[in-house]
Amino acid sequence: MTDALTVRSRDLAQQAMDAMKAASGEAELAQVKSQYLGRSGSVTSMLKEIPKLPPDERRSAGTSINETKKHIEAVFAECRDALRGAALSQGSADPVDVTLAGRATWRGHSHPVTLAWDSICDIFSSMGYDIREGPEVETDWHCFEALNMPQGHPAREMQDTFYVADGVVLRTHTSPVQVRTMLHEAPPLRMICPGVVYRRDNDLTHTPMFHQVEGLVVDQGTTMAELKGTLAEFCRAFFGSETQVRFRPSYFPFTEPSAEVDISCVFCSGDGCRVCQSTGWLEVLGAGMVDPAVFASLGRPEYDPEGVQGFAFGMGIDRLAMLRYRIDDLRLLFENDVRMLEQF
Ligand code: DAH
Repeated sequence: MTDALTVRSRDLAQQAMDAMKAASGEAELAQVKSQYLGRSGSVTSMLKEIPKLPPDERRSAGTSINETKKHIEAVFAECRDALRGAALSQGSADPVDVTLAGRATWRGHSHPVTLAWDSICDIFSSMGYDIREGPEVETDWHCFEALNMPQGHPAREMQDTFYVADGVVLRTHTSPVQVRTMLHEAPPLRMICPGVVYRRDNDLTHTPMFHQVEGLVVDQGTTMAELKGTLAEFCRAFFGSETQVRFRPSYFPFTEPSAEVDISCVFCSGDGCRVCQSTGWLEVLGAGMVDPAVFASLGRPEYDPEGVQGFAFGMGIDRLAMLRYRIDDLRLLFENDVRMLEQF
């Protein structure tokens, strides 16, 4: 009996194979398949005979019928692919195979400098600061002169400048936006301006183009204490609430008094490491009270140095991004290697 069944199932497999190979289209092919494997197909009916066999013959009968089934399915897939291939090459099939799995779309990532830029804007906006912009091609007057850095001032040499034409430069810092804002808006003023700046500098820790944010507050009775509180609050919001902040006396032509601001090293939490050169501190900002000479250069009565005070600060966004995201090589920010950018 088993033998008979095995033989029958092999015959069926052969018949099915011949019929499928002869099918002229996908519809016919599907019909042949269902004749054998469908609910009342001949292979399916044979499976139903198994319970009638003596118990010791059921297993081998089941195995051979299942093999027949698998064989028919494999031949079906082969014939279907061949028919589709032929139809495609004759141009009679829709070349879009909607049964194919979709290709995953690739998601872009914000650059770490963009992330830092956005986060700085968010923090200062939450403190009531407006965001301003200024041109990247700047006059010598806005970039230096009005900021108390006349021709020949030694501080100009710290900012190696690209000259576009006589008296026209690529801005070396975002501080000229202070000047432009004060020329157009009356106090009280509370603004930051992020932007691109340029310097003739190119080595391991400098790029000729980089990013800065300038901040300016002008009002009656603005104090150094408010400057200190604002910047300490900013550093904790940006680098984490554990961050320690210290002010060191410094010099900038456009502020008096001036300070440099350090944070406790983000790599060693102040214990001392290679990055902070064992000091436990990292410099992140320059700041100070607006020098009365800057107000005077505006020639606007609203900015009478006797009536208003202000503070200003400036910081490098690229450096802040590197410290926040623990990126130890400046070049990584500008190479745009997707393997690096994907991590943010
Ligand atoms: N403009 C300075 C620079 O590029 C940064 C700076 C320092 C801006 C102190 C300020 C400030 O407003 O008060 O190096």
